Amino acid sequence: MTDLAYQRCIHPSCGATASLDDTSFQCAACGSLMDVAYDWDRLHPPKNLREFEAKWSRRSEPLEVSGVWRFRELFPFARDEQIMTIGEGQTLTQRSDSVAKFAGMNSGRLFLQYEGMNPSGSFKDNGMTAAFTHARMVGARRAACASTGNTSASLAIYCAATDLMRAVIFIGSGKISYGKLAQALDHGALTVQIAGDFDDALARVQQISKKLGIYLVNSVNPFRLEGQKTIMYRILEALRWEVPDWIVVPGGNLGNTSAFGKAFIELVDLGLIPHAPRLAVINAAGANTFFQLYERQGLRWNGGRLDQGRVDAYMHGMDAANARANTLASAIEINRPVNLPKALRAVDRCGGVVREVTDQEIMDAKAKVAAGGLGCEPASAASVAGAKKLRAEGVIGADERIVCILTGHQLKDPTATVAYHSADPKTFEEVLGTRGIRRANFANRAVQVPNDLDEIIKAIEVYA
Ligand code: F0G
Repeated sequence: MTDLAYQRCIHPSCGATASLDDTSFQCAACGSLMDVAYDWDRLHPPKNLREFEAKWSRRSEPLEVSGVWRFRELFPFARDEQIMTIGEGQTLTQRSDSVAKFAGMNSGRLFLQYEGMNPSGSFKDNGMTAAFTHARMVGARRAACASTGNTSASLAIYCAATDLMRAVIFIGSGKISYGKLAQALDHGALTVQIAGDFDDALARVQQISKKLGIYLVNSVNPFRLEGQKTIMYRILEALRWEVPDWIVVPGGNLGNTSAFGKAFIELVDLGLIPHAPRLAVINAAGANTFFQLYERQGLRWNGGRLDQGRVDAYMHGMDAANARANTLASAIEINRPVNLPKALRAVDRCGGVVREVTDQEIMDAKAKVAAGGLGCEPASAASVAGAKKLRAEGVIGADERIVCILTGHQLKDPTATVAYHSADPKTFEEVLGTRGIRRANFANRAVQVPNDLDEIIKAIEVYA
């Protein structure tokens, strides 16, 4: 299958290729990011997306029960017997009228894509199963990542469940939520906490994996992004293969943005959908490099000839000011998104927009999502906060059909949630006030009552 799938530099003017088993994940000619590319003329992509529906009757087979590999004809880089799956991607596209109302949308027009249902509790498993499969194809014994917590949890779980590889994870000190740290430790990953933040940890892990020959699973790994494309296939399937008007996604390292863009570009090019949906990428205001470069400075993909000087100047400016990403949405506390060029390509081809939302907006949106029945972590709620903002601006119409991606589970970061609902001003101030959050607009406070039957009954009658 090697010649049917290969790696290719993302820049059309370069276009250098590499074989499937190259693990440098960097163009040897120009140093850019790589795509996984396919010789579609010699492969057999489906003629119609409805063909995937037939797989529902074969759900006793592991590759058909996986919400990722069920779609493997759309990313055919591995043979069936090479695939490593732990049943990822069985996630839900849930219509939410209460969240629609909060965002200013009409009833029936807003959907939440709940990726918290994955085995490790975040969307990362969609990509990890693909990267892990590739790692196995090239005979890797160790795999590494830098992480704000979810990539590391996902890697740890795949290593533990398959016992095929040792996980080496790098996290910034004090920058990881307890739910995620618990997963890495409990699943037996070698956990290296370095003095610094995610951006520092990512730079280090790239160096170290090269030096020690450890397989890298961060989203510079193009195989991971192939797996993440399937989130979009599942959304299309849930919407009976109709293309929604908008996909709204939180932006951190911009792997999802890149993967979603590639999914739609390929589906359009293969003639499987008539057009791509529009893509809205939502940064946290405290980690808003993509917003600044795209919306404020007008940086564009420009057919692959993007203005690298502008990007370099922006990064140097951050260095000079010693600027650090700072948001309660720790999953997206990232100032140097490695997938920036691919994300620019995605928003270019999908008529995209980029917005930033404050931690206040994120936490209020998170509370509304939970009140509607799905629990997500702060970073995920950036999508809903962003949708509300774009609706208020009139960029999204009240009757357009939109899907907000809920990237990670509520229990990943209980500290933020408990502080938001806490009646104790000290807890609120320590966790949220220091991030500029003034009020918990949708708090559900615990009721304090004496241990007395009458008092307890009285409290229930008052509040419920
Ligand atoms: N939402 C959650 C819950 C995440 O964990 C991440 C990224 C993102 C959104 C942003 O996605 O990077 O594709 O733009 N978490 C990474 C990690 C960085 O290490 O777990 P992106």
